[in-house]
Amino acid sequence: MQQIFCRDAVCTGSLAGDHRVVALMRSPKIMVDLHCHILPGLDDGPVSMDESMAMAESAIADGITHVVATPHANSIYAFDFDRVRRLRNELQELVGERLELATGCDFHMDPENLAALKEDAPRFCLNQRDYLLVEFNEISIPPALDQTLHQLRLAGLHPVITHPERNAILRVQPERLAKWLRLGCYAQVTGRSLTGGFGTSAQQDALSWVGLGLIHFVSSDAHNTRSRPLKLQPAYDVVRKKFGEEKARSLFVDNPRAAFEGRSLPHVPEVAHDLTQPRRRRFFFF
Ligand SMILES: [Fe+2]
Repeated sequence: MQQIFCRDAVCTGSLAGDHRVVALMRSPKIMVDLHCHILPGLDDGPVSMDESMAMAESAIADGITHVVATPHANSIYAFDFDRVRRLRNELQELVGERLELATGCDFHMDPENLAALKEDAPRFCLNQRDYLLVEFNEISIPPALDQTLHQLRLAGLHPVITHPERNAILRVQPERLAKWLRLGCYAQVTGRSLTGGFGTSAQQDALSWVGLGLIHFVSSDAHNTRSRPLKLQPAYDVVRKKFGEEKARSLFVDNPRAAFEGRSLPHVPEVAHDLTQPRRRRFFFF
């Protein structure tokens, strides 16, 4: 049993008004998943509502309380907001109050999407607020992307770079990621990367970047119940063990909850100038 300090309204019990909480479980059990392909028949996620329901049950059992359904929005999978909302409402009806579902999308940075975003940004954003998951090509990242991200910031949006640790270009050029963070963008790693499910390189970079303060969210990016399940607890345990409870809460609870509600993030570390040092040090620790 361990003691942690309660900083929000959700707690398991308190002692004598000093806001101390005895944590009876290993995690706060109030995690928020901002990136998840849980709705059926929209993309390469689940094929049926039964499978979506099984993913929802997995999330509840894992200690997740909020999930944003973020289907792909790219040239292969067109984004249909009305259909996404209909499916979300259907799943919410089935799951009841045990899990809160919202919608957003996995926004591919292509010209067509950017034009549609200009017309109506909220439908693409997480919970229709102002945080936007953005993904881009793993083979080439055009220099103009810097300018596009800057324009999104000027438009009042908060671009969230999805799983940079799974992008071969960013893994060798992390200073590009750091530059976007200095523009006011945020970064999200996939939980499964932290536990080694996407290979050693992705795992080492994800851990290194968490240590450097380059990462603001950990999400499941779940696609199904088998190979890409809707779980965050294993990754939470990895972060807690290596970086402590406070860092784990910031990445799995506090920051994602703030983005879900459209608030400023409570935990935004200053971007380190030397991105190489922890890479050297990690060989002593990992
Ligand atoms: Fe995704």
